[in-house]
Amino acid sequence: MNIIKVQDYDEMGSVTADYVSEKIQDNPEMTLGLATGSTPKSTYKHLIEAHQKGTSFKHITTFNLDEYVGLKPNDPNSYHYYMNKFFFQHIDIPSEKAHLPNGHSRNISQECEEYEKKIKSHMIDLQILGIGANGHIGFNEPGTSFESNTHVVELADSTRRANARFFSSLEEVPTHAITMGIASIMSSKEIVLLVSGEAKSEALERLLSGEEPNESFPASILRSHPHVTIIADKEALMGTGIKL
Ligand code: PGA
Repeated sequence: MNIIKVQDYDEMGSVTADYVSEKIQDNPEMTLGLATGSTPKSTYKHLIEAHQKGTSFKHITTFNLDEYVGLKPNDPNSYHYYMNKFFFQHIDIPSEKAHLPNGHSRNISQECEEYEKKIKSHMIDLQILGIGANGHIGFNEPGTSFESNTHVVELADSTRRANARFFSSLEEVPTHAITMGIASIMSSKEIVLLVSGEAKSEALERLLSGEEPNESFPASILRSHPHVTIIADKEALMGTGIKL
């Protein structure tokens, strides 16, 4: 795993956006895996700036990692809404090329199967990923099988509490989500893991500690992927022994 060290959250966004923009220049029809949450927001901000300076997203295809079950796409807490607000509506990607799981489908297990099929038919060239304080990737909580494809998960209490900041109350945070599985994520040709802030420093330390991949710490699987780049800021690196 390569590590790119950056000073702070904003620099993480600009370095990641430059990295992604270069990949798009090399392959304008690439398939990009996207994430939500606080971590990638600065990346989207800088990618929008790159678009204003000429980068086109017209021919790329995107797949998001996950979506809450039960929220309509126009619900302000859904990841559909987040992606439109923070990224898609500011760039030139055609809406039919931007894929997210449909958490409001009547047949959730069929939705998972179809989403996985679409991912497999495209092959993700570069997956942007965050990490949970408990080591989750996507919504794959500790204990998730490394063989898992897109599936429905019951969210861990700690994840619901961490995400409650976006909702008016903890009760409103959905209990389930659709997520790409760990095998789906690992099938990406390349992965860029973004890690920002002190709250993630223990998880980053554990990831870098040399621990063998094991299902109780989902991110540990990344150690066995051939092409992972970690972009981490100073606060996240605190405690890992890696200095800027
Ligand atoms: P965050 O979430 O970016 O909101 O911290 C990342 C994650 O839980 O994967």
